[in-house]
Amino acid sequence: MKQKYRITRKHYTLSLLFFGVLIVLFGCANDKSDASTLKKKIVRISHSQAVTHPQHLALLEFEKIIEEELGDKFDVEVYPNEILGSSTNAIELVQTGAIDFVVSSTANLETFDDIYEVFSMPYLFDGEESYYKTMNDEGLIDSIFNATDDAGFRGVTWYTAGTRNFYTNTRIETPEDLKGMRLRVIQSPTNVKMMQAFGAAATPMSFGEVYTAIQQGVIDGAENNELALTKNKHGEVAPYYIYNMHQIIPDVLIGNVRFLDSLTDEEQQIFANALEESNRVELELWDEAVEEAVKEAKEMGVEFIETDTKIWKEQVVGLQQEILDENERLVPIYDRIQEINKEVEGE
Ligand code: GCU
Repeated sequence: MKQKYRITRKHYTLSLLFFGVLIVLFGCANDKSDASTLKKKIVRISHSQAVTHPQHLALLEFEKIIEEELGDKFDVEVYPNEILGSSTNAIELVQTGAIDFVVSSTANLETFDDIYEVFSMPYLFDGEESYYKTMNDEGLIDSIFNATDDAGFRGVTWYTAGTRNFYTNTRIETPEDLKGMRLRVIQSPTNVKMMQAFGAAATPMSFGEVYTAIQQGVIDGAENNELALTKNKHGEVAPYYIYNMHQIIPDVLIGNVRFLDSLTDEEQQIFANALEESNRVELELWDEAVEEAVKEAKEMGVEFIETDTKIWKEQVVGLQQEILDENERLVPIYDRIQEINKEVEGE
């Protein structure tokens, strides 16, 4: 006869003891050395890139400065490769304060605060020079960074994410060739509209899903900067990269508002300096990273295709007005960027 298993007081005490030991062991293993560690605030930063990407290196610089100057109070942890969740999920974690910072494309921020729609307008900047001049216009950028407190986050610095171009698994030369293709876009309503205006079927999904989706034939390609071809290996599955240059959109490091407001004046100053330095490091590494990516992608078999960007622009530029009509908040920002385009042209 089978003996019925009964939980006795002895079993209960033993299991409590067992779990108690586990907790103590786990605690010791994680205790970096002294009691002060326990008092440190762990500052968690999430991003979507590989550990060799300029953004990861720039965040390590931020970590280094904060820990050098405020190491008794803060322990900064940088989590790459969407390991804390896709960009959209990580933004939600920042909103609730479960993590403190995330680097996000402005396109992914759009559904959390529509002020960020402005950057998704195709062909917003006349070129890189206008883009950099806009991003370095502190008055303008701070007005955007500080406009999202109600959504629970605030922009604290930005990183460049280059120029976005199409790449596909069959060769394309003109916008006509996009017809009928299923192409991945960032999870942003404006990007969906842009892709539709180009005549392709927009498939929104997170960055981390793109490689497998192309490989399995769920989509025919995507659009991004050159680093996606190598650091995320997209060039293996979509080896035709065409320089149609539809967007130059930045990434923004956003922080939880409550955490940022909890910093003392002195800490705020140190954070501001560390962020400035982190931005500087990323920008300094960017051009070389793109050059290397192109070289490496060519070795992988990627073909880079030049095209007349005017014919691509004609197809979608009408969207700018459409977006402005739907969101008046963007008008002063858009007007200022147009002024910068003109200033750069005149220089
Ligand atoms: C770039 C950008 C990311 C963005 C990604 C994407 O890598 O830097 O912020 O999330 O593109 O296409 O999703």
